[in-house]
Amino acid sequence: MERIDKILSSQNIASRSEVKDMIRKKRISVNGKIVLKPDEKFEPETAEICVDGKVISFKKYVYIMMNKPSGVLSASNDRYAETVIDLLPKEMQRRGLFPAGRLDKDTEGFILITDDGELAHKMLSPKSHVYKLYQAVVDKVLTGEDVTAFKNGIGEFLPAEMKILDEHTALVEICEGKFHQVKKMFNAVGANVTYLKRLRIGTLFLDETLEKGGFRELSESEIRDILCTKHGI
Ligand code: URA
Repeated sequence: MERIDKILSSQNIASRSEVKDMIRKKRISVNGKIVLKPDEKFEPETAEICVDGKVISFKKYVYIMMNKPSGVLSASNDRYAETVIDLLPKEMQRRGLFPAGRLDKDTEGFILITDDGELAHKMLSPKSHVYKLYQAVVDKVLTGEDVTAFKNGIGEFLPAEMKILDEHTALVEICEGKFHQVKKMFNAVGANVTYLKRLRIGTLFLDETLEKGGFRELSESEIRDILCTKHGI
């Protein structure tokens, strides 16, 4: 059971003080009865909550796709640096939101922000075989030998597919998420990564209409695509 003001603010319907005001104006009802106090408690997943007579569909978890800019930390909070959570508007900064997986501070692209720990675990576990696609720009001319080295598996890393787009640019698909993995793999073939962007998780591509720092919620089918194990560049 949760307080009605907490339930509605968790769904980004209104802030807790706005809910108070809405209650005063008798705009909120639960199971057909007008709510009179903000501390009245209900079961959020089963109660029929209405605002201005319209039923609110309660979402247990939030799933946000963000186009992470370089220079922002993929962490929930940090004393000094700006985090991906700081980029969300206050009313979306729901308790417990975290980035599922880490992109380096200088890496751009698709980061999933959620409060669904189980989905994050599935997405990140190498056992789940959820592939992530990156675009990398490197400081040496890439060759077929580098593609073969990736295919055979570099050091501690599982075999990975790499496709050369031009002399210095490649796509790389990996299903692990080890620390600095893509950079380390390129280092092993004598290349330094000068730009890195994540383009896809599972079969879901970054929405290219999102500007840097832009975000949007995912639909249910997009959430399923994130866990899809189909791969290949
Ligand atoms: N691999 C890296 O080296 N860095 C990232 O941010 C993601 C994958």
